[in-house]
Amino acid sequence: MKEDNLYYKAHIFCCNNERPAGHPKGCCKEKGAEPLRNYMKTKIKELGIQEVRVNLSGCLDRCALGPTMVIYPEGVWYTYASTADIDDIIEQHLQKGGRVKRLLLTADQKELRDEQKQGRQKN
Ligand code: FES
Repeated sequence: MKEDNLYYKAHIFCCNNERPAGHPKGCCKEKGAEPLRNYMKTKIKELGIQEVRVNLSGCLDRCALGPTMVIYPEGVWYTYASTADIDDIIEQHLQKGGRVKRLLLTADQKELRDEQKQGRQKN
């Protein structure tokens, strides 16, 4: 539900920060953030979902958990690694107003949970 004074129903920031190869912190760009963000933007448009903005952002300072995104106004954080993850976020979060629990990042989370590591390349 959109609150009265919000410009967007959902404003999504996808980290696309890039660091040099081999940097100990890694970065979301090398983990595929940009094509997945572009996929998300295109899919939202194709589905006709209104009042949603998907922006690239700089480092969100949760690099070990990346690629990361945060969705406002709620400030819900997700990690994601595939178009299937993006599809779930669009359907469950944006269309149904729920959460994709397997991808959620908690406020105190420092490492990906086992279920979030599935199918990811090592950094
Ligand atoms: S590089 Fe993406 S959160 Fe830091």
